[in-house]
Amino acid sequence: MHDTDSPSNPSSNRSFEEVVDARISRRSLLVGGAAAAALTFVSGTSVAGAAGKPAAGAPGQAAKRAIGFTSIPLDDGPMPTVAPEYRMQTLIPWREKLDGSGESYDYEGFTAEQQAQSIGIGHDGMWYFGDDRRGLLCINHEYGTNPHVFGATLPTSLEQVRLSQAAHGISVVMIENTPDGWRAAPSPKNRRVHGNSPVTFSGPAAGSALLQTAAGNAPAGTLNNCANGYTPWGTYLTCEENFNGYFGAKTAWTPTPEQARYGFSANGFGYGWHTFDDRFDLSNAAYRNEENRFGWVVEVDPDRPGDLPVKRTALGRIKHEGATVVEGRGGRAVVYMGDDERFDYIYKFVSRSSWRSMRARGVHPLDDGTLYVARFDDDGTGEWLELTPANPKLAGRSLEWILVYARLAADLVGATKMDRPEWITVGANEEVFCTLTNNTRRTTPDAANPLAPNPDGHIIRWVDADRHTGTRFEWDIFAISRDVEDGDGQMFGSPDGIWADPDGRVFVQTDGAQPGGKNDQMLVADPVTAEFKRLFTGVAGSEVTGVAVTPDRRTMFVNIQHPGDGSSSVSNFPEPFTGAGGPVPRDATVVLSRVDGGVVGS
Ligand code: FEO
Ligand code: CA
Ligand code: CA
Repeated sequence: MHDTDSPSNPSSNRSFEEVVDARISRRSLLVGGAAAAALTFVSGTSVAGAAGKPAAGAPGQAAKRAIGFTSIPLDDGPMPTVAPEYRMQTLIPWREKLDGSGESYDYEGFTAEQQAQSIGIGHDGMWYFGDDRRGLLCINHEYGTNPHVFGATLPTSLEQVRLSQAAHGISVVMIENTPDGWRAAPSPKNRRVHGNSPVTFSGPAAGSALLQTAAGNAPAGTLNNCANGYTPWGTYLTCEENFNGYFGAKTAWTPTPEQARYGFSANGFGYGWHTFDDRFDLSNAAYRNEENRFGWVVEVDPDRPGDLPVKRTALGRIKHEGATVVEGRGGRAVVYMGDDERFDYIYKFVSRSSWRSMRARGVHPLDDGTLYVARFDDDGTGEWLELTPANPKLAGRSLEWILVYARLAADLVGATKMDRPEWITVGANEEVFCTLTNNTRRTTPDAANPLAPNPDGHIIRWVDADRHTGTRFEWDIFAISRDVEDGDGQMFGSPDGIWADPDGRVFVQTDGAQPGGKNDQMLVADPVTAEFKRLFTGVAGSEVTGVAVTPDRRTMFVNIQHPGDGSSSVSNFPEPFTGAGGPVPRDATVVLSRVDGGVVGS
């Protein structure tokens, strides 16, 4: 991801740095061994037992959870590596045509129109909707730098801006397992949603003046699609993260407090779109509020290519990492969401009633419900703080304002500042895991964030007091990256992607500095013993992100994002490395399977 230079949360809310001594003393018991921490948490949580499921450590569960592969060493090469019990292949690289031919457009002379008809760049979160042999893969294209996409630092034409915009967004593509392996297949459902595709808004803020521009331009585009979610009703959720970086200012411009809180600046991340596209020019009064149209969770029905993607305003506007949906008590749809910035927050949304009954009444479950933000208390409990006008701390604020400026609302209610919340997953026993990737600006160690600065990150875990619908929860730390070791020392840093399989195995992917400067990777952890094994290592200059599986879990899809940081002198992935004269490296999906046909992770 783009590591924005400065945190944008100036509020006086307590960060974890200020959690009191009671938690420090408890933490000192737990940090000594991650396994001890895990067992303490599971046995100390009555809610888990109340869910009527066996404890994670019960006989039988451990066997199902077996992580039997050979943990591999860190690597620094130009191609991925995988455990010896596994095989891998690549799929849908950037620029592959959507027609299922398997052909790709050339890098030289690549046009915006071609990009809009081929796989985007920056493969990230994804989910697979199909059976064990064939189905639709929905995949995010988070970003690609200008040098990678068109070979120059700044655009010199609107065409180059349009190419960059078309490289972002998502792809929906039919894939199938053939005797020659997995490949893309022709389908009328294959399509792109990119930076200029028509979209629509729904939910409480959809009609807000805060989402209207004087220019009257229709809502268009989804950007910086990072992690994702998927719903029990069969749709895909794509999440807009660092959208601020695509905006800039052509002429004099001073950010409003709201713009400042979301990190808008005159040069953004240097994409230069605003120099040719007024929509992204913050100094153009006609497009005031265009920036409020990004930062949402966007729902896409993979099976309905004619439907517009829908930005669900009830889920709030933040730098959305992901949107993890779980069915809570009473059949309510619950969505856990991280806001990935140093000292920003963790959110959840709870639908008003059962998602099935809401749909039967023609009400979308993600349009009517309550948004909350998390406060982590000193004693290992926490509270979900309501982000509605009914909260006295938000008195006088409209729900529209609260949702469009959710960060500012969360500041007002006293949410807890976290170390960059990334992906969230719900594991066995209804435990919720959230990666906190790192925070190099933290200055004071405390119980829940024992490292300051925290360059390697950690993974926090909680159990809701009322099957995901309550306002109270118990929390603890699952793993502190620096302390997870094997015979070769520290195993990983900067956890980002995380996904728990139905047996309880926790897959962890990294994006950042790894031990010894080695490549990003994917590990598999046992949630009870907190033992980690390394299953996969990525490509030099890339991150490893995104995880999806077939229903039988014998096939797993993961992504290599920005291989070689876009430079052919580092990697020519997915082609074998031949050096700087070789192909420009391409983001691509990697298909993992066990040679013996077993469940991936076992
Ligand atoms: Fe796009 Fe926070 O990673
Ligand atoms: Ca990332
Ligand atoms: Ca991420």
